[in-house]
Amino acid sequence: MSRRRLLGAAGVAGAAVAGVSACGEKPAPQESLHGRVVAQTSEVPVGSGTVVVDAKLVLTQPQEGEFKAFNAVCPHTGCTIQEVTEDIHCLCHGSRFDLANGEVLEGPATEPLQALEVTVEGTDITLV
Ligand code: FES
Repeated sequence: MSRRRLLGAAGVAGAAVAGVSACGEKPAPQESLHGRVVAQTSEVPVGSGTVVVDAKLVLTQPQEGEFKAFNAVCPHTGCTIQEVTEDIHCLCHGSRFDLANGEVLEGPATEPLQALEVTVEGTDITLV
């Protein structure tokens, strides 16, 4: 069974929106979000994850209580990752990435997603 979750804005719970893709767009590091709460733990399902579209972040929880973050810009040609189920999907050309480390599971991408660091305090997930 797959779970799909897309959120519209960092820190805005339950604001589901359709996926946004933009092939060819430049990678956008989340510089302005460092030190800020980007989501709540309840927004990131265990064994899956969430795309915070506006922040260009993929947040995952591969094991209960273990949170990971990745730049949502696909290393193939720059689409924004649109979907997280049991792995991370780029719907532009079908690449799939591992929830735990962003490694490529299926191409055409050949490079992993850029890992970002997060901390969890209470229910707040903060981008380091
Ligand atoms: S841009 Fe993601 S698979 Fe091509």
